[in-house]
Amino acid sequence: MTTLNPSVGAAQSRILGIGTYRPERIVPNSELVEAIDSSDEWIQQRSGIKERRFAGPEETVQMMSVAASRQALERAGIDAAQIDCVVVATVSHMLQTPAIATAIAHELGTDKAPAFDISAACAGFCHGLALGSDMVRAGSAKHVLVIGVERLTDITSLNDRGTAFIFADGAGAAVIGPSEEVGIGPVVWGSDGEQYDLIRQDEDWRDVLVQEKPTMPHLIMQGAAVFRWASFAMAKIAEATLDKAGITVDDLDVFVPHQANMRIIDAMARSMKLPAHVQIARDIAEQGNTSAASIPLALGRMIDEGTAKSGDTALLIAFGAGLAYAAQVVVLP
Ligand SMILES: CC(C)(COP(=O)(O)OP(=O)(O)OC[C@H]1O[C@@H](n2cnc3c(N)ncnc32)[C@H](O)[C@@H]1OP(=O)(O)O)[C@@H](O)C(=O)NCCC(=O)NCCS
Repeated sequence: MTTLNPSVGAAQSRILGIGTYRPERIVPNSELVEAIDSSDEWIQQRSGIKERRFAGPEETVQMMSVAASRQALERAGIDAAQIDCVVVATVSHMLQTPAIATAIAHELGTDKAPAFDISAACAGFCHGLALGSDMVRAGSAKHVLVIGVERLTDITSLNDRGTAFIFADGAGAAVIGPSEEVGIGPVVWGSDGEQYDLIRQDEDWRDVLVQEKPTMPHLIMQGAAVFRWASFAMAKIAEATLDKAGITVDDLDVFVPHQANMRIIDAMARSMKLPAHVQIARDIAEQGNTSAASIPLALGRMIDEGTAKSGDTALLIAFGAGLAYAAQVVVLP
């Protein structure tokens, strides 16, 4: 039998740098309430959101991704030409094909790096992190750029009471590279397709296009059911992730759950009995829910503000449409 060369990777992987891009325009609750017969008070009480960022016409999925990636590369001390793979997690790149990742890889100046998109909604960034970490350890890449990016305003109806005040735009990126020590712990991930319909695009494109006056499909959500699933099932996944990494809540410095709703964040923290010293990401108040971008944006803010620092142990957990989820413990760059 012919013997083939093995693929040889690094002993371990870690995050080398994180970058973010927040759109310029800040949209307070007061701008949205009239169309959905709501109030600033109701929105803050039910979701914890005070304001969010909406992308302008120039702030495309590609533009925001490139900006976040450049910052991540700079902070990682890595040149774009050293990137061996670009993974973009998004549900709001509006071309069915090709993937936006190849255009981003080109604009950044990678050396024709392999590049592809993944669709795991709000869980996308943590899926990308798992893939990137495995690639580095398996030897298919030395440095992987993982991007979470959304322009959810393109697929959100500002007249939908259940979603208009929740979804927003932005991008975050992480450079993953080789490490001697474990910098990205084992992933715990999965899906619950029985609840496939809880968060979804309202209509199939083919049904939209035969309508007399076609309008853009938008996201719809069964909020209360998602809320229950996220608050209870995801706290258990978070605990399983700590177990798999071989640590307990006492070893954690930072907790970065998907920024879906402040009440979900609080419910998870209570259920996990997080000690008082654990810093909890609360980017949702100023940023809304940016789906695949939410984890890197929230982590980026904590690093920038000094509530999370290099060497800290952080639990990341992302969950959303699908229903899909992924979580891992990481050491911060
Ligand atoms: C969307 C969400 C904030 C709604 O909160 P809720 O407490 O479940 O609200 P409900 O839909 O049960 O409605 C409660 C009441 O508020 C009203 N209401 C609904 N939307 C409203 C709005 N935007 N403004 C004011 N009132 C509203 C309803 O009519 C209802 O009134 P009633 O009691 O008189 O019938 C909440 O379900 C949620 O955050 N879910 C999870 C969302 C999430 O995490 N999504 C992302 C996952 S990736």
